[in-house]
Amino acid sequence: MERTFFAIKPDGVGRGLVGEVIARLERKGLRLIGLKLMQVTPQLAQQHYAAHSEKPFFQGLVSFITSGPIVATVWEGREAVSVVRGLMGATDPVKSAPGTLRGDYGLSISSNLVHGSDGPEAAEREISLFFRPDELVGASRPEETWIYAGE
Ligand code: RTP
Ligand code: MG
Repeated sequence: MERTFFAIKPDGVGRGLVGEVIARLERKGLRLIGLKLMQVTPQLAQQHYAAHSEKPFFQGLVSFITSGPIVATVWEGREAVSVVRGLMGATDPVKSAPGTLRGDYGLSISSNLVHGSDGPEAAEREISLFFRPDELVGASRPEETWIYAGE
């Protein structure tokens, strides 16, 4: 099964949306295998967003993600990377479809609630930045018999 890294950014934690956001991914059928509330250091933020280091919004990105606690998570499931990106919605919440997390919960491109890996390689890189292997627990959900029936 594919794994992805997913985080609730400081705005989502500050606005009290942690439970609602996690519930959406759980209801989709994805399996939660890693979870922590943490303060991101500037060094970790720079590593995490290294691909954006030349962008004009890089400094803002680093200050925002370090501005308060985030909830870092790892999820497992069939095509987990693209499934989570779909649940998140487009980067700009004004353009995100209703029914997606960003489409339902915001208007700001910089404070856009959540982060999700944009590909399987990025997912493995980000998971190892935020979690030690022994922090990931693969507890299967009994209803996966139904979630994956016919697969
Ligand atoms: P994320 O990495 O947070 O999951 O978001 P994403 O893949 O949808 O977007 P990405 O292109 O990776 O950009 C990372 C974050 O940078 C901020 N951003 N600001 N001002 C701008 O034009 C701009 N573009 C991107 C967003 O907060 C985005 O989530
Ligand atoms: Mg991205």
